[in-house]
Amino acid sequence: MKKTFPHIPRERLPALLAAMPKAELHIHIEGSLEPELIFELAKRNGVALAYPSVEALRAAYAFTDLQSFLDIYYAGASVLLTEDDFHDMAWAYLRRAAAENVLHTEIFFDPQTHTARGVPMEAVIHGLKRAADRAGAELGVSAQLILCFLRHLSEDDALQTLEQALPLREHFIGAGLDSSERGHPPEKFARVFARCRELGLRLVAHAGEEGPPEYIWNALDVLKVERIDHGVRCLGDPALVQRLAREHIPLTVCPLSNVKLCVFDQLGAHNLGELLSAGLAATVNSDDPAYFGGYLNQNYLETFAALPLDAGHAYTLARNSFEASFADQADKARWIERLDATFEQFR
Ligand code: ADE
Ligand code: ZN
Repeated sequence: MKKTFPHIPRERLPALLAAMPKAELHIHIEGSLEPELIFELAKRNGVALAYPSVEALRAAYAFTDLQSFLDIYYAGASVLLTEDDFHDMAWAYLRRAAAENVLHTEIFFDPQTHTARGVPMEAVIHGLKRAADRAGAELGVSAQLILCFLRHLSEDDALQTLEQALPLREHFIGAGLDSSERGHPPEKFARVFARCRELGLRLVAHAGEEGPPEYIWNALDVLKVERIDHGVRCLGDPALVQRLAREHIPLTVCPLSNVKLCVFDQLGAHNLGELLSAGLAATVNSDDPAYFGGYLNQNYLETFAALPLDAGHAYTLARNSFEASFADQADKARWIERLDATFEQFR
């Protein structure tokens, strides 16, 4: 039964959305690299940048589609060279997450973006893992890593990347698929995902961000993923919506990203409300917060301001974020108790 909170008025939503405990399940750590940190790391590492200043770089963040963003995003990531760089980037994100009442986060990273430049896999994973462990100890934020394959590269490249990461297998919980969606369908990665499954990795894939509903079907049927990243284009296919609802397949929706990358013209046109009405396990996430105008709470705040969503929807979205996570049942139950307590306080 969906919970309702008729006594929580709309004007209290901003405070509620900020205060409620939540999980983040779709954040590319390279997409949390703020322009200021890009310049700091460029200086530290002697890397030349194509922009003269933080302001000039930020001014270039006007995207027309996914690819126009990815070009700038990969250029930004070129300043990351050492284990400390990866730690510092992730630590900055995790501190923000803690301040936004994020209790648990499952962080995507793109090793190929770095290993292709000669950065050792160990520097990437050890740096991120050090920040994740530190977040547990110092911030009370639980953080896990999900290794993503770049779909614009070949499956052989993905297989090699997986082999390279295997000595560090204990440091990440899952595998994902990201980068340029159109023309790179999930089935291109059937073998590497089968191997990841044998290894006991949890599986996710971007599908239905710019790509058609067919990509969502194949992510489920061929790659056997447990969650769909984005998935907003599922509504064009009623049979797919039924399947997603029946099997409780979570969608990690990223509203500000979708507007910045022109998947929707404006937040008021976003289909998050329809996804929830269709009974889908939608969650709210920031995707690449340094590039898309805000971290997780900003996504919630702007989306609720733009759409006819109420406190019941806020509860459902936060609860979905915990239930859709790869955490164990005991942690999920503890977090949902904290969520319930926060909603009680708003009575
Ligand atoms: N890599 C970083 N952000 C992405 C997105 N929104 N879609 C696909 N790949 C990405
Ligand atoms: Zn993404």
